[in-house]
Amino acid sequence: MITGAASGLGLADAKLLVAEGALVIMTDIDIANGEARAKEFGATFIQQDVSDEASWSELMKVIKRKFGRLDGLVNNAGIAPIANIEDLDTETWRKVLSIHLDGTFFGCQAAIKLMKENGGGSIVNMSSTAALVGIGPYLAYSAAKGGIRSMTKSIAIHCRQNKLNIRCNSVHPGSINTPMVHHALKTLMGKDIMAQEDPEQTRLELGIGEPDDVAYMVAYLISDEAKHINGTEMVIDNGDTVI
Ligand SMILES: NC(=O)c1ccc[n+]([C@@H]2O[C@H](COP(=O)([O-])OP(=O)(O)OC[C@H]3O[C@@H](n4cnc5c(N)ncnc54)[C@H](O)[C@@H]3O)[C@@H](O)[C@H]2O)c1
Repeated sequence: MITGAASGLGLADAKLLVAEGALVIMTDIDIANGEARAKEFGATFIQQDVSDEASWSELMKVIKRKFGRLDGLVNNAGIAPIANIEDLDTETWRKVLSIHLDGTFFGCQAAIKLMKENGGGSIVNMSSTAALVGIGPYLAYSAAKGGIRSMTKSIAIHCRQNKLNIRCNSVHPGSINTPMVHHALKTLMGKDIMAQEDPEQTRLELGIGEPDDVAYMVAYLISDEAKHINGTEMVIDNGDTVI
């Protein structure tokens, strides 16, 4: 199951996992795109707002009834409003935390309950390099992604100590070519990547990765090939945070 899968990174994860032979459930608040994309490559779409706690128990019931088990969850849904410490309002702060932190918490809790019934599973939580370095214009987003990073480690160690055979890892992309980053480039740099004569060349010049760069990592972490990888943070930024 992948949340926020109607667009960007979640969509790329869904496509790749279907190609790898997984039965994929995509969820999103965006019904039109979610349904259309899922139909294109043979996934199942279910409408969900990840910050709605009740939606999680409903979804787990549907998954159990339709598929019998849940092997993997990617907590990917997110928003990234641009606001720094001086101009962020409380409503936006709470909204960001509710989607990223509440959503990931609800998702992990619900998935672990079901995964325990089928003897194990793998959870991937979408964090960001914003959890590792300071990013001025993304105050709430950075706080949420930092929370996801440490929540992931606490879940991983709990599952290991209780022999649940459930792994939990976080993924930390830098800038990746999705609508979220297009909006950021436009707002912060006045650069409309999609309006460029050669968007691919512009992407390369700006050092922006592709959604598949993240999807391959997600597919690996979900798979049994990553059976010894737990509680770790996978950075996908072509060295941005090393410099
Ligand atoms: N693109 C990047 O460079 C980048 C870098 C680091 C981390 N991320 C993270 O990756 C994830 C995906 O981002 P993206 O770039 O693909 O963005 P995107 O805007 O293309 O996709 C986000 C999706 O989440 C959905 N969504 C928003 N609120 C939701 C909610 N309450 N419930 C369910 N779905 C909801 C949106 O409808 C959208 O389909 C986010 O968590 C983002 O923070 C992205």
